[in-house]
Amino acid sequence: MYADILIHSADMMATMMGHSGCPARGEGMSEISPIKDGAVAIREGKITAIGTTEELLAGGCVGPETIQICAKGKVVTPGFVDPHTHVIYAGSRENELSLKLKGVPYLEILKQGGGILSTVRSTKQATDEEIKAQTSRRLQTMLSLGTTTAEVKSGYGLTLEEEMRALRLIKELDNEQVIDLVSTFMGAHAVPPGYNEEEFTNYLINDVLPQIAAQGQAEFCDVFCEPGVFSLNSSERILAKAKQLHFKLKIHADELAPAGGAELAAKLKVTSAEHLLQASDEGIAALAKQGVIAVLLPSTSFNLAKNSYARARAMISAGVPVALATDSNPGSSPTESMPLVITLACLYLRLTPEEALTAVTINAAHAIGKSNLVGSLEVGKQGDVLILDVPNLNYLPYHFGSNPVERVIKRGRVVWSACTSS
Ligand code: NIG
Ligand code: FE
Repeated sequence: MYADILIHSADMMATMMGHSGCPARGEGMSEISPIKDGAVAIREGKITAIGTTEELLAGGCVGPETIQICAKGKVVTPGFVDPHTHVIYAGSRENELSLKLKGVPYLEILKQGGGILSTVRSTKQATDEEIKAQTSRRLQTMLSLGTTTAEVKSGYGLTLEEEMRALRLIKELDNEQVIDLVSTFMGAHAVPPGYNEEEFTNYLINDVLPQIAAQGQAEFCDVFCEPGVFSLNSSERILAKAKQLHFKLKIHADELAPAGGAELAAKLKVTSAEHLLQASDEGIAALAKQGVIAVLLPSTSFNLAKNSYARARAMISAGVPVALATDSNPGSSPTESMPLVITLACLYLRLTPEEALTAVTINAAHAIGKSNLVGSLEVGKQGDVLILDVPNLNYLPYHFGSNPVERVIKRGRVVWSACTSS
């Protein structure tokens, strides 16, 4: 069978093979299974062959219609998977920058009715079309920076109606644009005016979660577990109910204060625990024991400007599988850039480039339950491939602030190219 597209002659092709069953951990995070002079063939959206250029050419996959792309002098990787974003919203919060520079803490801005609540207001005021247009732009930027699959959380609605609208719009965008989207319900993102924490937790458990489950438009449920937002007890109640309703679970834990969030994540056996800047040694050991994936968000640490980063090295030594994400949102991480996240992860989380690549591909795919489809270049997986205009893998984190992506191939189609975009 002839391939629709053959990418060949890559100086280095990082296949990330061998981790589709279980996320990579410990030394496994350094195994990127590279192929020198690598080639990958794709037919009808799926990878049909992988190997050296010589092997694939000898295998006879090139027919008269096969598009051939030469990646000489370049690095080829799977498409990036961004497993933690909040991109469905309208508006922006650059007005909060001056407060932040004056040292007003993130949660103080929220307490004053700003922060997440400010985006809740701007999103409520926007039409479906406005939210979709603004979100599409962000998704297009993400695609140009190499993201081919992403998770998106609701959480700027905070009422049944508005949360359902957000999840519906995520589904529509999933159908209408290139990036594959995985939806997470995050009604427990902030306590809106008119409720105390307990009342809003009860509302989510009794009135919102069952309806969201019935609507069937979210795979995961997530909670902002943080002293002053949702306590351990409220978080556990919400996630326990979500589990009963067959959601898969995620948790924002130990971001701003050490509060036993990692321990709770392990107790509930969530798929992934996110942020974890303040996770305790016991919490890290518990995550490792339960195989919970740590989704680390160094662009959020960078943007909160507190010189505090998650203890990724301790997590990797303990055997916690680590993934990386942008946390793209209008407050704590207004960026779409996985390449920036890779640079920050190497410089401040002390990941090697190989570990960082594992964290943005196969481990990120595991964090959103899609490791059977994406995250590595293996026969049968989706043909989501990046051609990076870098001479070797070290160059990827090393040179930052510009876009290293030369071409994005999604299901075997070139969907973005540096040469043709204006
Ligand atoms: O993951 N921590 C809570 N939620 C987001 C921030 C959302 C916002 O500030 O709008 C986060 O950092
Ligand atoms: Fe987040």
